[in-house]
Amino acid sequence: MEVTARAPGKIILAGEHAVVHGYTAVASSIDLYTVVSLRLRSDEDTVKLKLNDIGLDFSWSVGRIKEVLSHLGSPFSSTPTSCSLETIKSLATLVDEQSFPETKIGLASGVYAFLWLYTSILGFKPATVTVSSELPVGAGLGSSAAYCVSLSAALLALSDSVKLDVSQKGWSTFKETEAELVNKWAFEGEKIIHGRPSGVDNSVSTFGNVIKFKSGVMTRVDSNMPLKMLITNTKVGRDTKALVANVSARKSRHPDAMCSVLNAIEAISDEWSTIIQSHAVDDLYLSANEEKLGELMEMNQGLLLSIGVSHASIENVLQTSMKYKLASKLTGAGGGGCVLTLLPTRILFTVLLNLFIYASANSFITYD
Ligand code: PMV
Repeated sequence: MEVTARAPGKIILAGEHAVVHGYTAVASSIDLYTVVSLRLRSDEDTVKLKLNDIGLDFSWSVGRIKEVLSHLGSPFSSTPTSCSLETIKSLATLVDEQSFPETKIGLASGVYAFLWLYTSILGFKPATVTVSSELPVGAGLGSSAAYCVSLSAALLALSDSVKLDVSQKGWSTFKETEAELVNKWAFEGEKIIHGRPSGVDNSVSTFGNVIKFKSGVMTRVDSNMPLKMLITNTKVGRDTKALVANVSARKSRHPDAMCSVLNAIEAISDEWSTIIQSHAVDDLYLSANEEKLGELMEMNQGLLLSIGVSHASIENVLQTSMKYKLASKLTGAGGGGCVLTLLPTRILFTVLLNLFIYASANSFITYD
């Protein structure tokens, strides 16, 4: 039996970091996906994980997984449950036995998340799981959330918890309540990878489109603006967990100042969602709104700089876009990763601009 699930990456339009502390963020899914294929096997007694894009392969005998996780029983729970620190240590034993390359050690938590979701949802059934992704890892485009969502969806599709509708294109689709279950399990995976995620990344990856997110609650945003964003990847690697921890430490050192900054970020997110939901009456109205969004992006970026999550590589992209009177901001955790630049809707200008930024950026993706 085989199933394939896919989930999109995301950009955060406003409110990253603030969202971890209970303030509002606005995020949108993007047209880049992670795909998980899961094949149950009767010919072998192993669980295999193939991470195609990063060139890592793992294989565990079902007996060894049972032995290491024997204290948990199988399956551990049909409802989403958090992985304890003690269990993470057991999962680390299983990963250490697999000669994990030193250079890729930062990705080990993704394998712990796999083992936790796999054994919790499917128990100890032998299978081969293959993961392929169009998303750059650790660049702020939600690669870990897309991984956890597509993995949870594929696992749940083969569990008894959900009944799938198979669409004309061959993709399995979930009903709303089942999508919520996928989202909850994906959040548990994200916790293993990031420690203290807000839940915005897995929610937008599960439900798609544009969402508003505050204190664990997601609201869909019905966007009426034909926005064009350029995404520039600085290709500077960074660690979301460390950046989030640094912001929390700054918040403990300067609670009043940080509270004001985070409130200001929330006001920006709220204004973002109001603007993109408004109906443009004509082109003038549209370009006035684009201008407002650009200003909001500049303010959001300034506030992100003030909480210590910008980086020289990000500032470099900002300087370049500023020369052409374009607004940009980092997206995701910052410290490198990707930068968003709002592209005006005027066609000729956009084409010229794409050519210019293509020449000056490391890589580019346009997003409608
Ligand atoms: O850089 P990413 O894709 O991991 O995004 C992180 C977004 C944060 O707000 C910084 C963290 C979170 O959990 O919301």
